[in-house]
Amino acid sequence: MIEKRFFGNVETDKEVSLFTLKSKNGMKVEICNYGAAVVSIFVPDKNGKSENVVLGYDSAQGYEKCSSYFGAIVGRYGNRIGKGIFVLDGKNYQLDVNDGENHLHGGKFGFNKRIWDAEPIQTDTGQSLKLTLIDNNGEMGYAGTVKLDVIYTLSEENELIIDYLGETDETTILNPTHHSYFNLSGDLTKNILDHHLMLNADYITYVDKGFITTGELNKVENTPFDFRNLSRIGENINSDNQQIKYGLGYDHNWVINNWDKTIKKVGELYEPVSGRFMEIFTDQPGIQFYSGNFLNGEQIGKNGIACNYRTGLCLETQHFPDSPNKPSFPSVIINPGEQYVQKTIYKFSTK
Ligand code: GLA
Repeated sequence: MIEKRFFGNVETDKEVSLFTLKSKNGMKVEICNYGAAVVSIFVPDKNGKSENVVLGYDSAQGYEKCSSYFGAIVGRYGNRIGKGIFVLDGKNYQLDVNDGENHLHGGKFGFNKRIWDAEPIQTDTGQSLKLTLIDNNGEMGYAGTVKLDVIYTLSEENELIIDYLGETDETTILNPTHHSYFNLSGDLTKNILDHHLMLNADYITYVDKGFITTGELNKVENTPFDFRNLSRIGENINSDNQQIKYGLGYDHNWVINNWDKTIKKVGELYEPVSGRFMEIFTDQPGIQFYSGNFLNGEQIGKNGIACNYRTGLCLETQHFPDSPNKPSFPSVIINPGEQYVQKTIYKFSTK
């Protein structure tokens, strides 16, 4: 049975709830319906000690003020669109510009700043919470009214499964993603530099200094971006490399090998002291690895812990940044009558 409790008010008087999903194998996931945000993920370490491994807040008000998208579903378009402009079916669009001169994560009032409808549902995989958002025509400059269902399921195999189902009444673009900041050590005062990462990608998409893709696919071989084998994140994060400088560390989109729209294992994250191991599976063509370079301790998260520089990392399964302006990138267009579908799984274990 999924527990539900009061989690605070946003917009002065709107109630937000916190839902708790549990598995029989020691995992617990807390989710609130503001931003459809994952608040906590409790995972056993190699000695069976269950600790929280994501950054977050202990009230809804924290998420209302949050500027880092902690745990949220972001959209309508996850990642950036250059200058917030694109042309679709011959029509020019101007989206809200909220990140320098660009559009990021759906704009100032994107999906992470909205109250979602939430209801526990029964699935044969585990405890599930379905959250639904209606994003109206014109919101943040987007065309068409989009209905998006996100179903979080905590399976008995300790998988956090995220299923997305979207539809629109007008041709538009749609590229939501999940934005948890992981720190598998369970000690959120530590940085993530001793985590080891594997990403099944021979290429990344280079960016300019505004994080907008150039349109090229660039080989990771012999660069700081080669995570084809499980590698320590801190090894090359401060390399004298133009893309590392533009990204202020890692903040790039890796191009999943052999993408064919089916779900594949695309990555692994391992923290050697706790032994916690996370595998990432998705049907998306890209994954944004962001090493928490904008965290600066100003945000005080759960248990009064400051969210310091690089104390969490994101692995956002997605389409590529600025796809609406890059014809060579996979399309993010959705038409009336079509279904937007995404499945991403974060599977936890120890080794
Ligand atoms: C994404 C972006 C980062 C940063 C975070 C939110 O991960 O790639 O540049 O904007 O969102 O702070």
